[in-house]
Amino acid sequence: MNRIIAKTRLSDDVYRMELEAPHIAHERRAGQFVIVQADVEWGERIPLTIADADPQRGTITLIFQTVGVTTRKLAELEVGQSIDAVLGPLGNPTHIERFGHAVCVGGGIGVAPLYPIAQALKNAGNKVTVIIGARNKSLVILEEEMRAIADELIVVTDDGSYGRKALVTEPLKELCQVQDTPDIVVAIGPPIMMKFCAETTRPFGVKTLASLNTIMVDGTGMCGGCRVNIGGETKFVCVDGPEFDAHLVDWDGMLLRLRAYKPQEESHNREYVEHHQCRLDAIVANNREGGAR
Ligand code: FAD
Ligand code: FES
Ligand code: MG
Repeated sequence: MNRIIAKTRLSDDVYRMELEAPHIAHERRAGQFVIVQADVEWGERIPLTIADADPQRGTITLIFQTVGVTTRKLAELEVGQSIDAVLGPLGNPTHIERFGHAVCVGGGIGVAPLYPIAQALKNAGNKVTVIIGARNKSLVILEEEMRAIADELIVVTDDGSYGRKALVTEPLKELCQVQDTPDIVVAIGPPIMMKFCAETTRPFGVKTLASLNTIMVDGTGMCGGCRVNIGGETKFVCVDGPEFDAHLVDWDGMLLRLRAYKPQEESHNREYVEHHQCRLDAIVANNREGGAR
């Protein structure tokens, strides 16, 4: 059982949770993730990156976006309650060394998994430029945290409501066009964003890593759910990744597999939201009756 120590809402649908997990807090390294089961009897297992850890307190921090049933169930848990099962640390840590100039590109919730990597790259003596991209101002997360570690921080929004009105690939291309091109780019975000980051850096020959967010079930290399084609070879993201050379990823194959359960996920999500609306309506009606007496 992993007790929740702190919970904050970072934006409309993004939550930060700090929970007790002493072993994981001690062992984890940048780039690794946990598999979480919000409801151990019936719940599915979902991967979430360890956004931060405090080995002294024995806690880890997860930052997640409510996109479907399991993440909504997690968001309902409050401080003092526990998450049934948290397994990890899983996946290979990011290879960190003194590359020179590292550019970290995060899109949407991808900024959360990017944070420990940017931090580790900075601690290894790299010059770190961080590009944060979001659809609009309300979806920008971890700006202050990133500003504290980055040598340069560029914020872009699709609608121009904050920072520069651009996609992350625009400042990324500009950084590649200067004489002193980046030594490494790490891109984490929606698959389509990572695909276009790879296409942006490819002509400049800039080494680019992407952290792949495939469907995962066991997280230990046994189910094959997370398989992806890397340079013509089948790899399992959970044990061979999650980071790969972005120029070798079969992005279209990965996008297709990610859509495999879309109809089921959408119908479960609809049922869940409707069920909750009924519950909320009943509570409101009950309160009204109580108030009238
Ligand atoms: P659903 O409605 O079930 O699914 C919504 C979408 O999430 C799906 O279309 C699918 O693309 C994806 N998804 C669904 N089930 C899984 C699954 N079992 N494994 C992977 N993806 C799935 N999200 C965060 O918000 N924060 C993180 O730090 C984070 N880190 C991740 C690290 C890794 C290594 C991977 C692979 C994914 C990570 N994700 C993270 C994505 C997160 O796992 C999904 O958003 C979550 O599983 C959605 O579950 P759901 O039931 O709420 O939504
Ligand atoms: Fe099962 Fe990777 S999640 S093999
Ligand atoms: Mg789900």
